[in-house]
Amino acid sequence: MTYREIYQSWEADPEAFWMNAAEQIDWDRAPSYALDARNAPLYEWYPDAMVNTCYNAVDRHVIAGKGNQAAIIYDSPITDKKDTISYAELRDKTARLAGALRAKGVTKGDRVIIYMSMVPEAIVAMLACTRIGAIHSVVFGGFAAHELAVRIDDAKPKAILATSCGIEPGRVIAYKPLIDAAIEQSEHSPETVIILQREQQTATLSHSRDYDWDAVQDGVEPAECVPVEGMHPAYILYTSGTTGAPKGVVRPTAGHLVGLHWSMKNIYNVDPGDVFWAASDVGWVVGHSYICYAPLIHGNTTIVFEGKPVGTPDAGTFWRVMSEHNVRSFFTAPTAFRAIKREDPKGEFKAKYDLSGLQALYLAGERADPDTIKWAQDLLGVPVIDHWWQTETGWTIAGNPLGIEALPIKIGSPSVAMPGYEVHILDEAGNRQPENTLGAIAIKLPLPPGTLPTLWNADARYRSSYLTTFPGYYETGDAGIIDEDGYLYIMARTDDVINVAGHRLSTGAMEEVLANHPDVAECAVIGVSDQLKGQLPLGFLCLSNGVNRPHAEIVAECVQMMRDVIGPVAAFKLAVVIKRLPKTRSGKILRATMVKIADSEAFKMPATIDDPDILDEIKEALQSLGYAKD
Ligand code: COA
Ligand code: AMP
Repeated sequence: MTYREIYQSWEADPEAFWMNAAEQIDWDRAPSYALDARNAPLYEWYPDAMVNTCYNAVDRHVIAGKGNQAAIIYDSPITDKKDTISYAELRDKTARLAGALRAKGVTKGDRVIIYMSMVPEAIVAMLACTRIGAIHSVVFGGFAAHELAVRIDDAKPKAILATSCGIEPGRVIAYKPLIDAAIEQSEHSPETVIILQREQQTATLSHSRDYDWDAVQDGVEPAECVPVEGMHPAYILYTSGTTGAPKGVVRPTAGHLVGLHWSMKNIYNVDPGDVFWAASDVGWVVGHSYICYAPLIHGNTTIVFEGKPVGTPDAGTFWRVMSEHNVRSFFTAPTAFRAIKREDPKGEFKAKYDLSGLQALYLAGERADPDTIKWAQDLLGVPVIDHWWQTETGWTIAGNPLGIEALPIKIGSPSVAMPGYEVHILDEAGNRQPENTLGAIAIKLPLPPGTLPTLWNADARYRSSYLTTFPGYYETGDAGIIDEDGYLYIMARTDDVINVAGHRLSTGAMEEVLANHPDVAECAVIGVSDQLKGQLPLGFLCLSNGVNRPHAEIVAECVQMMRDVIGPVAAFKLAVVIKRLPKTRSGKILRATMVKIADSEAFKMPATIDDPDILDEIKEALQSLGYAKD
């Protein structure tokens, strides 16, 4: 069948389409129907089913005789370690850790925070939670104690699973002090903290709540898989919104299993047994869906890679991993390829490796710029597939479904909507726009299985963030166009979210941090274009009256504050002191205009600006940082 036929079959009978897809999952109680729309615009998928995620990702493959197949290949150029874990070993490790969690009183519905570097135990931790119906929330290691504390207070975890440290090029980050500081700052206290000691920096287990990863599993009875209801949350993943409070995206168990399984063959074109590699981090949605769950649910081998595209040790690392482990489909963020291209523009490292097993490269997480796509295409000689999705959806909204049919690639477009997604471009009043007209990208409700049903403990915020602007639609927060062939183009965000090295960050959250500096009276943070990371945050600081300390000192303090409060992942290194912020007469800060000036783009003087002269000062300030070139 062609893509068009499959999309139309979904349109004609979504219920049959998703019941059919559900047959790939091993249910404890099969769903008697797919969609429950009784509570629209809140929808439920497979609510009367009973199922276990870990059973589908691990145990069923062992039972089917694939116990010896590699489930996880660990490749860590940063520590010079490699390991392979079979499905049978993964089942045993998972059952043991789940048993230890159960022995510590963690049961179905309890939350567990996971704060770990890229080691296979991070996957074991996620699976151990879903094995007993506990709801995990993975926090990216690049977030600092405050961000961890915010998540602890929202998720109220009974336990935290962590590595003693994270390893970045040139430095080791002790995680345990960050965890202790976060628990100190938060109102909620977890009862148990389990630490996997890494030899690069072990942690002192100083509190009565602290346990060693191995010791806590000694002698415990391995836990069996606990069936849960279809809508039981498999996990919560926090992502940036407009304000400082992150949104806890809830992932429902049954739809997650069905959606991810469907995606592996149809989108990534791999068969069970093939090696699939997503070079991301378990802290991001790409890591959840395509390092951990989807490849395992589908019976693939997944790679846990601990390193960077460059510098660990060189710009040939990706090619080495692909050739050594015979990777068939590879997924990463465009920024990783920009980093390689910058270091090795002619792609000379590639010549050392045999990449004949690679059939396609998939890019997502940020805009894939045409230069990078063309460079990758020429170098690798395989299709480079841009696809668009979000933490909220958990899998592709628009892509090029190679497993169904290789559609013509239009560089600059993540191609077409996947079955389950009816994507429209709307104007401000919610009217559908004609072809090639820019507007807000919205998806007609219901969203397909696996997408967020709500935000953790925040139904009202879910409705106001996503369902209110355009009744009957999910508001993606992205703006773009759809062309005459149904190809989508993602042009910009419509909110204060920026995308730095494929990481989604909130400028609002950064402004909250800067505003806490004692000398800062007012501030604004914008995202400016960056050749490597796509965007970088840049802060404007207006100082309180009477402050006459050197500006460089204040800027340095602000940079440090951002690192301490949000974390190094914010990549906040640019800030400048100005006298006033440009505003409309009603007091709205003209961030979009400042972005245009910074990026040296033409802009129209906003009619409502209260003082046009101020823009010259902004331009000068930006020029002092190397932006706003004439
Ligand atoms: N724990 C602690 N610190 C971390 C971290 C972690 N897990 N991950 C990143 N950091 C730190 C980095 O060391 C860096 O610190 P620095 O300011 O002291 O240099 C900071 O956070 C910013 O990280 P990043 O923006 O990733 O920059 P980088 O210079 O370390 O690496 C790339 C740049 C392009 C190589 C890297 O971002 C990359 O590989 N990105 C693409 C893949 C990807 O993970 N995409 C995510 C979603 S698919
Ligand atoms: P995240 O939830 O962190 O995955 O970020 C999702 C956001 O990243 C989207 O809403 C887009 O703004 C951006 N994004 C993801 N994939 C793409 C893509 N292929 N092209 C353009 N932007 C993308």
